[in-house]
Amino acid sequence: MNMKIKGTGSALPPKVLTNKDLEAMVETSDEWIRERTGIESRHISEKDTVASLATKACQKALENANQTAESVELIIVATCSPEMLLPCCACQVQKNLDARKAVCFDVNAACSGFLFGLQTAFAYLSAGFYRNALIVGSEVLSKIVDWEDRGTCILFGDGAGAVYVEACEETHFLSFVQGSDGSKGEVLSCNDRSLFGAQNLDRFVRMDGREVYKFATRQVPLCMEEALKKANLSVADVDFFVLHQANLRILEAISKRIGAEMKLFPYNVNRVGNMSSAAIPVLLDELNQKGVLLEGMKLVLSGFGAGLTYGACVVCW
Ligand code: UT7
Repeated sequence: MNMKIKGTGSALPPKVLTNKDLEAMVETSDEWIRERTGIESRHISEKDTVASLATKACQKALENANQTAESVELIIVATCSPEMLLPCCACQVQKNLDARKAVCFDVNAACSGFLFGLQTAFAYLSAGFYRNALIVGSEVLSKIVDWEDRGTCILFGDGAGAVYVEACEETHFLSFVQGSDGSKGEVLSCNDRSLFGAQNLDRFVRMDGREVYKFATRQVPLCMEEALKKANLSVADVDFFVLHQANLRILEAISKRIGAEMKLFPYNVNRVGNMSSAAIPVLLDELNQKGVLLEGMKLVLSGFGAGLTYGACVVCW
């Protein structure tokens, strides 16, 4: 068995924070942020939670697929910023949707989380355990960002994206490649365990931006090439590279390294910033809603993030 994406959905909190707004908060400039990252604005949650954004994205994905929550058999939420340790976010989404039949759990692989969730669903569906699934990437990173650290606070945004998938006979997912390198965990980390009573703990996201940049521009092309090889395809066969939206410069470097034109790399990082696990499914939903994705198109999805983790998959739409 294989699986097919039957519906997509996304949700962004209404408040928009621009680079100009950030100029009043930290020592930075609109020009610096746009030049180094391509980001102009991001959405920031005031009332929304990881669970409420994930729920909205799932409702839209179900609507797009013409399905109801009662029939959903599996819900996987990818997140690294859940409000609660227990219950997991996927169980909160189940409750909000009233998807009583579903088996629910979270995965945390940071910005690669959605891809790891997708591969997990693929394994369950192709083994015949479940017939359909909702996979969601949802983040409220604004709660774990240090708004006094100009090296990180300019990058991140909040939002959620979801896909509804069904098991099928035809081969839509052509290959998956995933990887992790725990030895480099310290280059992007967050130690928010204040609830364990530790005093003076730094509870914010900390990052060695240059190391993450080097990792992304080296590892993403390698794993995309490996995924294409596994699918018996080459870069020239790909219609779109739907990549993790961390930074426009990273996308440009990757496009150069693999020899594919930048017009094959759709992006929304300029409007929404880096939304970690939500980045790929939100972009996928925007492309789907615009009608840009046509049946039979070959897409490469790929991401990288804290852990460090990385992954790619090739999909025939
Ligand atoms: O999902 C994965 C998440 N992480 C990433 O994708 C991060 C990948 N890394 C990057 O995108 C880049 O490393 C950054 C955009 C984070 C930083 O760009 P950079 O070209 O690597 O700059 P840098 O960290 O080397 O800093 C250059 C200068 C420094 O000043 P000095 O030491 O040269 O005087 C920084 O203090 O820019 C300064 N700087 C800023 N200036 C204005 C750092 N952040 C800012 C800022 N505004 N926001």
